[in-house]
Amino acid sequence: SSDKLRHVESMSELPSGAGKISGINAVVLGESLADEEHDLVFPSPEFSADALVSSPKQYREMYERSINDPAGFWSEIAETFYWKEKWSPSEVCSENLDVTKGPVHITWFKGGKTNICYNAVDRNVEAGNGDKVAMYWEGNEPGQDGKLTYSELLDKVCQLANYLKSVGVGKGDAVVIYLPMLLELPIAMLACARIGAIHSVVFAGFSADSLAQRIVDCKPKLVLTCNAVKRGAKPILLKDIVDAALVESEKNGFSVGVCLTYENQSAMKRENTKWQAGRDVWWQDVVTNFPTNCDVEWVDAEDPLFLLYTSGSTGKPKGVLHTSGGYMVYTATTFKYAFDYKPTDIYWCTADCGWITGHSYVTYGPLLNGAAVLVFEGAPNYPDSGRCWDIVDKYKVTIFYTAPTLVRSLMRDGPEYVTRYSRKSLRVLGSVGEPINPSAWRWFYNVVGDSQCPISDTWWQTETGGFMMTPLPGAWPQKPGSATFPFFGVQPVIVDEKGQEIEGECSGYLCIKKSWPGAFRTLYGDHDRYETTYFKPFAGYYFTGDGCSRDKDGYHWLTGRVDDVINVSGHRIGTAEVESALVSHPQCAEAAVVGVDHEVKGQGIYAFVTLVDGVPYSEELRKSLIAKVRNQIGAFAAPDKIHWAPGLPKTRSGKIMRRILRKIAAKQLDELGDISTLADPGVVDQLIALKDC
Ligand code: WTA
Repeated sequence: SSDKLRHVESMSELPSGAGKISGINAVVLGESLADEEHDLVFPSPEFSADALVSSPKQYREMYERSINDPAGFWSEIAETFYWKEKWSPSEVCSENLDVTKGPVHITWFKGGKTNICYNAVDRNVEAGNGDKVAMYWEGNEPGQDGKLTYSELLDKVCQLANYLKSVGVGKGDAVVIYLPMLLELPIAMLACARIGAIHSVVFAGFSADSLAQRIVDCKPKLVLTCNAVKRGAKPILLKDIVDAALVESEKNGFSVGVCLTYENQSAMKRENTKWQAGRDVWWQDVVTNFPTNCDVEWVDAEDPLFLLYTSGSTGKPKGVLHTSGGYMVYTATTFKYAFDYKPTDIYWCTADCGWITGHSYVTYGPLLNGAAVLVFEGAPNYPDSGRCWDIVDKYKVTIFYTAPTLVRSLMRDGPEYVTRYSRKSLRVLGSVGEPINPSAWRWFYNVVGDSQCPISDTWWQTETGGFMMTPLPGAWPQKPGSATFPFFGVQPVIVDEKGQEIEGECSGYLCIKKSWPGAFRTLYGDHDRYETTYFKPFAGYYFTGDGCSRDKDGYHWLTGRVDDVINVSGHRIGTAEVESALVSHPQCAEAAVVGVDHEVKGQGIYAFVTLVDGVPYSEELRKSLIAKVRNQIGAFAAPDKIHWAPGLPKTRSGKIMRRILRKIAAKQLDELGDISTLADPGVVDQLIALKDC
């Protein structure tokens, strides 16, 4: 443990009083860290010696600079990218986060002209890395694979970009992408970015209704999909889902001109695909005919790059809007430092591009660094639970980034699936999507990483664009389950009910003071909702919706959502969305949905359902209620439990008391608290009596 001492000493070397900046007090407190040594996991001295940030001291200096001189800090990094025209130095950042002082706005590098596709692809080719692999692709079936060098990627992106232009897609037009994890998905995102079109990727697990809702909201010029995909042994007919969504959106007054369909031959032949002549076009018939070079559309740093719909506390999904310049700088920088990226790395993130993690850390962040990225189409437990490690060995993956739900499910299947493979290439692990429980953390660290690989537990959100808190793997010891400290430029604060900042060891609501380049700029078409949801709860701050505590060493521990959003297998779901799907069932009168602890998924969906008068509860009805949710949202949102409720606990003003429902769902019946304020306290006993229905 002389290594450990070395680290602790290097921490106490830090200047005293350097802990003034809220939230990072801890790394300096060598003494108290030493007391708790058993809780700390240190990077090896070799790892630290080689790391981009190799000590708390170095982090601290960079962090302080980023806070004291954000314009200087971020401009220097921005200058390492290509800008057709520079932003004006006085415009690096302009912001107002305080609703009481006027409309909320955030801009970074405004007036600068750039293009994220150019920086992610062309720039690497021009730097002489055209022959480097940009993307490896591993299909659903072992043995199915492919790859693209940066030059080949550029050719493919240009061909698609040229096609898009030929059908009239231009700067500022929306394109909806509904694709599985084929290379065509990141190619499509980059092609849109190249011509200044706004992509909106919809996760291909969403139902036709959800897809239609998003199409109607953003009115794309074109929808891009494929005919089918195999997930495990099961084929899923994506084109049928898109067809249904397009019918539905037409009913709502919007019709899409072109449906560009990739023929995914390994899943389904084109002959078997349903087709609407005039609207539907096979990708392979048109795109390959276009030239492999395509001029870049130079866009303002503040021009929109993409829209990504995410769940909030009402039924309607929110179109989170990200812009080009700040997002580019932020995703590239966070990727580089949080994973301690080296040009020799082979990087694999298991997220789907349908979620923000796939945007920032499958596509943009890694490519902007010229990294080799692995894209995996299949399921992590197909053909068996060793698939991930088979892939790690096959491609010699060095950085493996995944979600706690996958870690837990593989943990349940037993270590023999892991230890069968070498995994020698791994050097950094990553986690995202929900708090990782210390036992899963330790399994990931000890079994998967052979106690050699630091884990970057990255806390962030669709709205934040990139990592907000994360270990820097070589810089400081980790505590299993803690996302540790803020990234450069990020000022997390913990506030109480009244919005007062709390210092030191504490718990409360997590907010962010000041903007950062990757911040979202608005909710598409609804700036009011943007202000109301994120900036009104605590004036002067961005409110994250998460609870957080800070320990005596200043480490941050995310405690989960404090709003009506739940996190199921790392997928963010609004309870209101599930409720509105349930009540659209003709036999359902009322529904209240809460999250409940789930061993593998993190949280499961627990639905209390009141039926229309006279309708008896039955197994068949239970199934049809669940089917309703699958059809309206997607299979990933299907309730785990339906609890028949003759009545729901409500206040006299008619508000459902979810606090009580959460306790009933968690079977914590002795913690129901005060129920005397209910309009009818008797419903609680009825609910408890019916808990096994
Ligand atoms: C949760 C996913 C704890 C959190 C990138 C957040 C996490 C929500 C972590 C955003 C983490 C994400 N530790 N909680 N490392 N990462 N979360 O928008 O509740 O799909 O608010 O973005 O996931 O989910 P979203």
